[in-house]
Amino acid sequence: MICKQAVCYNFRNIENETLSFDREINILSGDNAAGKTSVLEGIYLCAQGRSHRTSREKDFLRFGSSLSGLTIVYEDRERENRLGITWGEKGRRHCEKNGIPVRRMSEFIGNFRAVLFTPEHLSIVKEGPSMRRAFLDGALSQLDRQYVASLQRYTAILMRRNKILADAGINPSLLETIDIFSRQLSEEAAFLSEKREEYTRRAEGYLQAVFEDMTGGREKPSLSYTGARSEEEFYRELTENLPRELRFGSTLFGIHKDDITVCLNGREARSFASQGQQRSLSLALKLAEGEISREETGEYPVFLFDDVFSELDGGRKEYLMKGLSGRQVILTTCEKEGFSQNSNIIYAENGRFRRAAADRR
Ligand SMILES: Nc1ncnc2c1ncn2[C@@H]1O[C@H](COP(=O)(O)OP(=O)(O)OP(=O)(O)O)[C@@H](O)[C@H]1O
Ligand SMILES: [Mg+2]
Repeated sequence: MICKQAVCYNFRNIENETLSFDREINILSGDNAAGKTSVLEGIYLCAQGRSHRTSREKDFLRFGSSLSGLTIVYEDRERENRLGITWGEKGRRHCEKNGIPVRRMSEFIGNFRAVLFTPEHLSIVKEGPSMRRAFLDGALSQLDRQYVASLQRYTAILMRRNKILADAGINPSLLETIDIFSRQLSEEAAFLSEKREEYTRRAEGYLQAVFEDMTGGREKPSLSYTGARSEEEFYRELTENLPRELRFGSTLFGIHKDDITVCLNGREARSFASQGQQRSLSLALKLAEGEISREETGEYPVFLFDDVFSELDGGRKEYLMKGLSGRQVILTTCEKEGFSQNSNIIYAENGRFRRAAADRR
């Protein structure tokens, strides 16, 4: 999969810019606040349907403007396509593919596929479980429409169930309907956790291969999804613990609490691995995400690397560049020179983008 062009219109600090990308390495180079991450955010939005930075869509609208838009032109194995998103006043969104409106997000996500890696992802192993759940949800959403739809239903049911639990103190009659929500939630949870567990198992295989290659094979990582349960088990948890949930005023059991345990040589990496090992694991996980996407769809996703190169040491940097050869990479950096000859360099300054002349590359 190749992203050939991105057009940003009143998106973040970018007024109206068209960026063209090469099939391999593309480097967005510029000072802080130039707009580099905004471009990656825009491209990733077309893959994932939502931003990695915010859930408030009105944030995308350039200050003072009432209409904002993004278009990417990309090529998959079959043809060239165009995906577009526009936001109107109050962030109201409109999506289209090849000029045809797409109303459901589950039909928009997954047309264009990308793997995003930011400095925050470097702590995916170290931080709490929400980042690891987001990893699974992000990766699975691009590959499985049913997963997206089920996750949307799960989130909506969870919100309603939480509202009941929070309000039942003042209005106990609300509890009459809680069983329906517990049932529905368990059904979605069983489906989602099975998918997550299967993905984790697949990722483990790739993680081990990448890690062995990257570190020379002294350490063996393993992954396990902690939370896979049947519908009945989810339901039992939700019903047996209702008094506790009422005390807390929210749903304490379900896939929104699950996690992936990452181990290195059998010990939990979160507590025992060194910072360097944790970084290598994070990087390897992202590369594994790309491999699974290729296995599933027959083509590599586009790799988006936001400012991670400055955070990686020489060995890992070199491994990454070698490991990604032949795939499309769009990366950002504050560095201004020292790029390899064959990369496409785009200089960013105050929301403007300029492709470097061939002799500067
Ligand atoms: N809606 C918006 N309208 C106008 N400007 C915005 C909007 N949202 C963010 N900005 C500004 O856009 C600028 C570019 O941000 P961005 O994160 O893309 O920069 P960057 O090039 O990635 O910088 P860094 O190297 O520090 O990561 C920032 O100054 C930010 O405050
Ligand atoms: Mg940035």
